[in-house]
Amino acid sequence: MASDASKLPCHIAVIMDGNGRWARERGLPRTEGHRAGAESIRGIVEECNRLGVRYLTLYAFSAENWRRPQNEIHALMALLEFFLKQETPDLVRNGVRLQAIGRLHDLPEACQRQLHASIEATAGGSGLTLILALSYGGREEIVDGVKSLFRHIQEGHVDIAMLDPELFSKHLYTRYYPDPDLMIRTSGEMRLSNFLLWQLSYTEMVITRKFWPDFRKDDLHAALEEFASRKRRYGGL
Ligand code: FPP
Repeated sequence: MASDASKLPCHIAVIMDGNGRWARERGLPRTEGHRAGAESIRGIVEECNRLGVRYLTLYAFSAENWRRPQNEIHALMALLEFFLKQETPDLVRNGVRLQAIGRLHDLPEACQRQLHASIEATAGGSGLTLILALSYGGREEIVDGVKSLFRHIQEGHVDIAMLDPELFSKHLYTRYYPDPDLMIRTSGEMRLSNFLLWQLSYTEMVITRKFWPDFRKDDLHAALEEFASRKRRYGGL
């Protein structure tokens, strides 16, 4: 396990992939894979909080996921609502602060209501900040950022000559959080899949072959060890 606290990532981002394949291997419906995936979330949130990780961003529903069959979308939204309702008391008890990024207005109203209630209930948490990426797409975020920047320019708040990456990042959904130090993707796929395209520029990546519903504390520790062994040079020497 990564014992050197200075090598503990401040922000971990996760592409939780493989729920469907996990279910198929067991002859179960895909929705059972998502249900098991939600269980994995509980364990990893608990462990990140215990270790002192400050931010954990989970890719819970992508902008592209709206193209899935209606029954799967419906099941995922129902699971999200149920999960938030069920987990909020524990999040409060453990000092975990919930946040969300993405085009949240695309979510069904009942989900939005529960999400905002959970965000409000956990607002005082001083431990881990858990950020759910919902109806999230990296390209969409950059486009929304450009629109926001443009409005600020029109209103005279920003001088275009002052524009640099730091200023632009203040117009992204993630403006309140540092960039991820470590990105974990499960199920062996070597893709970014439109996740945090701007923010992952210098992030260390760890890909594991395990499906997300099988991802446990030990797998998190293995990823943290791998992270601790990396030398980050940010393009320098
Ligand atoms: C990818 O599996 C997983 C997702 C669609 C997003 C993650 C969703 C969960 C972990 C479900 C619970 C989430 C919350 C917040 C309650 P996949 O279906 O793409 O798997 P496959 O690639 O094997 O088909």
